[in-house]
Amino acid sequence: MVTPNTDKHAWWIKDSYSREEIDQLVQWGLDHFWTQNHQMADLVAPGGYNIMARGEGCYVYDIEGNRYIDAMAGLFLKNIGHGHPEVAAAVAEQMTTLAYSNSGAYSSIPGVLLSRKLAELAPGDMTRSFFCGGGSEAVEIALKMARQYQYISGRPQKTKVISRRGQYHGSTRGAMSVGSAGRRSPGLFEAMTPPGNIQVDPPFCYRCPWGYKDRDSGNCCMQSPRSLENIIKGEGADSVAAFIATPIPSGAQIPAEEYWPEVREICDRHDVVLIADEIICGFGRLGSWFGMQRFGVQADIMTVAKALTGGELPIGGVVASKRVADAFDNAEGANSAFQHGVTYGGHPAVMTAALKNLEILERDNLVQNSYDMGNYLYERAMSVLQENHPSVGFVGGGMGLLMSIEMVKNRRTKETYPGGPQGEYAKTFTEKLRNSGLATRAGDSIVLSPPLTITKEIVDDIIDILDKSMGEMEREFPVDDA
Ligand SMILES: Cc1ncc(COP(=O)(O)O)c(C=O)c1O
Repeated sequence: MVTPNTDKHAWWIKDSYSREEIDQLVQWGLDHFWTQNHQMADLVAPGGYNIMARGEGCYVYDIEGNRYIDAMAGLFLKNIGHGHPEVAAAVAEQMTTLAYSNSGAYSSIPGVLLSRKLAELAPGDMTRSFFCGGGSEAVEIALKMARQYQYISGRPQKTKVISRRGQYHGSTRGAMSVGSAGRRSPGLFEAMTPPGNIQVDPPFCYRCPWGYKDRDSGNCCMQSPRSLENIIKGEGADSVAAFIATPIPSGAQIPAEEYWPEVREICDRHDVVLIADEIICGFGRLGSWFGMQRFGVQADIMTVAKALTGGELPIGGVVASKRVADAFDNAEGANSAFQHGVTYGGHPAVMTAALKNLEILERDNLVQNSYDMGNYLYERAMSVLQENHPSVGFVGGGMGLLMSIEMVKNRRTKETYPGGPQGEYAKTFTEKLRNSGLATRAGDSIVLSPPLTITKEIVDDIIDILDKSMGEMEREFPVDDA
């Protein structure tokens, strides 16, 4: 049993833990805490179950006291880094003043201030926010809002949603139906996901779905909007409600600069609501406040979550353009109010965490730092990793601090190591990186999305660890250079 630290309200927080305490917590964790997306039996091996105890800046520390660079900023959200007493203090003040307010009937002071702040930061005339508890929920809300917008605008037959193949939009039912999550396990969840949604191939030059070999021509990227328009026409424009996509996906495949403006025009031509899923890209990740700003395009609805509170408290939401908000304001009758209500939408403590977090991002110039450090990280990855390691297939990135390195067994054929994210290669690589002090997801690709507070020195440390680990991996899992 963990001996309580009587100096603390959170009595389990201590400077160090005994072997006995660690073993007990690990056992309780294995017995009771369901680790997401994992086969629990895989975690039973010694050292297989990791409990994090503390975070500071770009680092996290496990219960044994080992330090790791948090190379994924948690899950793309600790943009301000770990350990911000200001956020905690602001939240505590709000919680002891008003810890809850019923969003179905009222707003709260931090709720009003946050939505106004978002209207100021968001591109163009994205003026009104609806809040909820997480990203998947935000995607559900965006889909419903697009659908209801079409309905109240006199286009009730527009119900279908088009999304891009292989992209993740969350784990709830609607989000699975437009994203990759439900499609990963054919036969398992199809019956639970709403039918009627259609997918188009994404722009991804390295593995061009249309077979183009010339990565620089942009031909492949522009084939994707052409396909989108063909699908809209084929299905009948009067049946398509929305198109949803991330500005760039977590694989950091950056489309040609004409891609997004072209998609915007297509959506306008056919009265299709453009939903930008900004859940990863928003709040500085791409070196701009929102991802779509890097492409000069405004969506009709954007989803937000993760880094809106810097991961300090759970949040999700959508920001709607004035056109969408006005349509609801001007509608009459039973369906004029947006049909969605959630208990935790606009929670005052969460709104406060978001406000403080945005203040820190702005005050510490972290969006600019993401731009600068993103360029530096990309240059270093290209000049060291791509140059020295034949197992590096594709380095996605160069736009802020979102990078993905695709590992291949054979650079010429682009064949990957067997087993995917659950295979032996992936597990060995992740463990090797962890043992070297780098916390990230590795396998057929390595994701790098560190806190926006990162310095050149920490970027160099990340590159050194990857360089060394890739060398070891290439000895243990030789590349095929035929
Ligand atoms: C692009 C995108 N959309 C939606 C989600 C779902 O967000 P959440 O995990 O907060 O439900 C994620 C989560 O990683 C995401 O990356």
